[in-house]
Amino acid sequence: MKNLRHYAAALLLLLPLGGNAQSASQAYTPTPENLQSRQEFADSRLGIFIHWGIYSLFAQGEWYLQNANLDYREYAKAAGAFYPIGFDADAWVKAIKDAGAGYVCFTSRHHDSFSMFHTKQSSYNIVDATPFKRDVLKELADACHSQGLRLHLYYSHLDWSRPEYPLGRTGRGTHRPTGQTDWPAYYKFMNAQLTELLTNYGPIGAIWFDGVWDHDSDPTPFDWQLDEQYALIHRLQPACLVGNNHHSAPYPGEDIQIFERDLPGENKAGLSGQAISKLPLETCETMNGMWGYKVADQNYKSVNTLVDLLVRAAGKGANLLLNIGPQPDGRLPEAALDRLKGIGQWMRTYGTTIRRTQAGDIPVQPWGATTRRGDTLFVHVTKVTDPAILLPLDVKVKSAVDFISREPVKFERCKAGIILDLTEVKPDPDYVIEMITK
Ligand code: GLC
Repeated sequence: MKNLRHYAAALLLLLPLGGNAQSASQAYTPTPENLQSRQEFADSRLGIFIHWGIYSLFAQGEWYLQNANLDYREYAKAAGAFYPIGFDADAWVKAIKDAGAGYVCFTSRHHDSFSMFHTKQSSYNIVDATPFKRDVLKELADACHSQGLRLHLYYSHLDWSRPEYPLGRTGRGTHRPTGQTDWPAYYKFMNAQLTELLTNYGPIGAIWFDGVWDHDSDPTPFDWQLDEQYALIHRLQPACLVGNNHHSAPYPGEDIQIFERDLPGENKAGLSGQAISKLPLETCETMNGMWGYKVADQNYKSVNTLVDLLVRAAGKGANLLLNIGPQPDGRLPEAALDRLKGIGQWMRTYGTTIRRTQAGDIPVQPWGATTRRGDTLFVHVTKVTDPAILLPLDVKVKSAVDFISREPVKFERCKAGIILDLTEVKPDPDYVIEMITK
């Protein structure tokens, strides 16, 4: 009954709104539960991204269909052999929670078009197209809700298999029939799927869109009709955050700002030069080099490197969304589990120095970063680059202690700020000084 009401509400939203599309977004005022959800999101600082689909069977990453220019009908045959016997949602959620993460973001449908949930909109899904026949999203949602982990859902705007998706700059070699482009039908399909996702799986913390960049080289701007889509999401679940990995400054109606592979304000990977907004921030990054499982990529970052990244993200007031590509058998790779364990160990001791904090008083430095909660400034030293560091701060320091031993830490005042002596400091992988300032 409740479901039916949701569907009816969603259908109403699909009707033309009248006026231009902007009007919906300009009217968007986040509800109190949405603002609360933003705060909880920002407070958690660490999330785990999961890229899992039938692409894991090919073990070449989630772009294999497009990169190898495969016929999408041949690729789809992998579904018939997808039987991830080792999938255990409870074990995933436990490992992710033990790492100290506040949420998991799961790929409900990636660019290849395969739905990792039981959808009525296409039989190309985990229940109807595989011998496994289990709604892995339902199992994951149940595990998240019973263990108290927020569930976010990745959803691809672009599609390399559906003939009605208007071709963008990718997926041109997947042999889709031509002449069948039908944007209204595709838009309706997406909104019907989003309605299912937001109706059948309990509270969803965020919808994480990706793929708008597929049309960034169009001669005339492509109208994704995001306003109505965002309104649909907020109508179905007001607390659900909308984020979009479009590599630009946030659009109206979005609740968080996403950066890909770079911390806000950095742009080494070429996807993240955009202005930083006042919305809660999140940077996504891989543990190795690829999002989806890639058998040849065992180049995992060390626990120390990942903790350093997490601390720097927090120092910029951003969350880290750290990715794992589960194996074709449904298990999380051993190397990823090791990283989760290492991060968890750090989080159990130091989590409070990044959770419920804001960006620190000074920009992220080669030696580390700072985070702040009220009167407390946490100085995180992850690399000793100099025997002493200068914090260019114009604040009164009431006390400075080693966060672990609670022993006083020596500091000196000078005109330019506060000088900390690091000669004895050995970060493992982080050394935290807790300062009370006025
Ligand atoms: C890129 C890739 C995609 C991946 C995403 C994660 O947009 O296209 O495969 O899911 O980044 O950030």
